[in-house]
Amino acid sequence: AAAAQSSTLPFTPITPVPASVDAVTVPQGYQWAPLIRWGDPLFSKKDVFSPEAQTAELQARQFGYNNDYLDIIEVPWLGLLGVLVANHEYTNEGIMFPPAADEAQADEQRRIAMAAHGMSVVQLYRTGRSKAWKYKVGAKLNRRITVATEFEFTGPAAGSPLLRTKDDRSGTRVLGTLGNCAGGTTPWGTVLSGEENFNGYFRTAGTSDAEKRYGLGNAPTARGWEKIEPRFDATNPGYENEPNRFGWVVEVDPLAPNEPPVKHTMLGRLKHEGANVIIGKTGHVAAYTGDDERFDYLYKFVSKEKYDPRPRLNARWHNKRLLREGSLYVARFTGDSPSGEITGTGNLPADGAFDGSGEWIPLVVDGESRVPGFAVDEVLVHTRLAADAVGATKMDRCEDVQPNPKTGRIYVACTNNSDRGKPGKEGATEANPRNANRDGHVLEIVEAGDDATATRFAWNILLLCGDPKTNPSAYFAGFPAEKVSPISCPDNLAFDSEGTLWISTDGAPGTIGYGDGLFKVPLEGPERGRVQQFLSVPREAETCGPVIKDEDGMVFVAVQHPGEDGAWGDQHSYFPDYVAPNQLTGDGKWGGPRPSVVQVWRS
Ligand code: FEO
Ligand code: CA
Ligand code: CA
Ligand code: CA
Repeated sequence: AAAAQSSTLPFTPITPVPASVDAVTVPQGYQWAPLIRWGDPLFSKKDVFSPEAQTAELQARQFGYNNDYLDIIEVPWLGLLGVLVANHEYTNEGIMFPPAADEAQADEQRRIAMAAHGMSVVQLYRTGRSKAWKYKVGAKLNRRITVATEFEFTGPAAGSPLLRTKDDRSGTRVLGTLGNCAGGTTPWGTVLSGEENFNGYFRTAGTSDAEKRYGLGNAPTARGWEKIEPRFDATNPGYENEPNRFGWVVEVDPLAPNEPPVKHTMLGRLKHEGANVIIGKTGHVAAYTGDDERFDYLYKFVSKEKYDPRPRLNARWHNKRLLREGSLYVARFTGDSPSGEITGTGNLPADGAFDGSGEWIPLVVDGESRVPGFAVDEVLVHTRLAADAVGATKMDRCEDVQPNPKTGRIYVACTNNSDRGKPGKEGATEANPRNANRDGHVLEIVEAGDDATATRFAWNILLLCGDPKTNPSAYFAGFPAEKVSPISCPDNLAFDSEGTLWISTDGAPGTIGYGDGLFKVPLEGPERGRVQQFLSVPREAETCGPVIKDEDGMVFVAVQHPGEDGAWGDQHSYFPDYVAPNQLTGDGKWGGPRPSVVQVWRS
């Protein structure tokens, strides 16, 4: 019952930190340090970081900007060796460099931005199990993936006419990945990453139903990449399909630095937050993925082939092909209360519980379309349109969707939806039970027969987030609201070795007025629903990619977009180096905000 006491990461919850504080706050008895920062060199110590002397060539050899997904993967046969995998969602040129003096410099800043997107693989070492990790410059596994890296398409839509451009008449290869948000590490040790807000990078005709549904339009982009690479302007003849080549789940093997990364068409094209895989009872694997847009959907992929658990090279090769073939489903949630909205006493629905049943509606089964009027490549490239056609449930922005490795139950972070219930928009339903849902909620799904490959499920609401002092509808699985840490806008999810849920947030400063943070939530026994805040991130930052290594007494987070509302000359954050404004010190510190991976450990 006393999860907080039995854990190897005991802590007293921190007091919520006002959003204006430019500091990392950790519990008493813990300390933190950056493990790697934007601009840190991966291949040679000569690639020194200096915002005023930055080039695209240097950036492609340094850790990228705005780290979001994070994992620290121990390489088991060596024990003291690890590999860090992070992605880099987007850039903020206004705080990264001085304003460009002319158009040539503006173009170079665009190329730097392209090189600061993508992913990083970084080899780590430590001197003992509970010792802090360090990263190694020039190590064998170090790798940067950017907007210029070649990817291969896999699955039924690879080679489709919908993916062909004048640069790739085969529709099987694409340069780059962008808008990478969350992700997941697979049971076979590769990393998945979700391409999310790709629409903002392209100018398109904006006339087709699909373009409109994905938010693609005919206007110059804010980033202006179409000025230096014609493929980002899909109105250029031959590039009409370039936007179709983004919005996928990508897979990278961090132990195979020379293997091309892939984009899996079988998981559909949407604004993927990320994807997380679990092995079902039948041996087939399921991957859960959310579409992070107001009123968009929750999806599940089920593999055709079974997972091979043998610790052999050919098993690894087999498992790396599991996401290429199978079935794709979209979720429909049904409430069992007479009215969806909260109407009963105690902020509960009329039947006293936020719960109900659900089904996974097939879009593609064993490589064949199940959506009338859609060929299989149309389902996979225009997945939102296919899901619209089958009556899926409109959700409050699914961010991370993660199976609990201990119990197999699935957790869905719905970050918020301020538009729910507005005129002309769908109102509250039992699975999304609040109109103007500014604080978000977390759902718990139990697959039928506890099998990840099932097509029916039961669900309930674990948390309706908020500060109970100011939002009376906040709900914590029945745990007394006055005893929890206030929490808002759940985004990324993780589990510790005991199966306890950890949640990081994005958006709390604008809703409850506290800095974003990381929270622990027991799922079993009398402590179920007891939200306890572990850390808080600096001014204007979001907490991403939590990694909980409780057996080592360690926690890692990716601190994304610190000081994002500042400007060159008016920086809002000095995290993590905290030296004088714009000062560049001999030991590699800089006086301005640097998105970084932070390591927290017991003092
Ligand atoms: Fe990039 Fe859905 O947050
Ligand atoms: Ca109910
Ligand atoms: Ca996110
Ligand atoms: Ca978010």
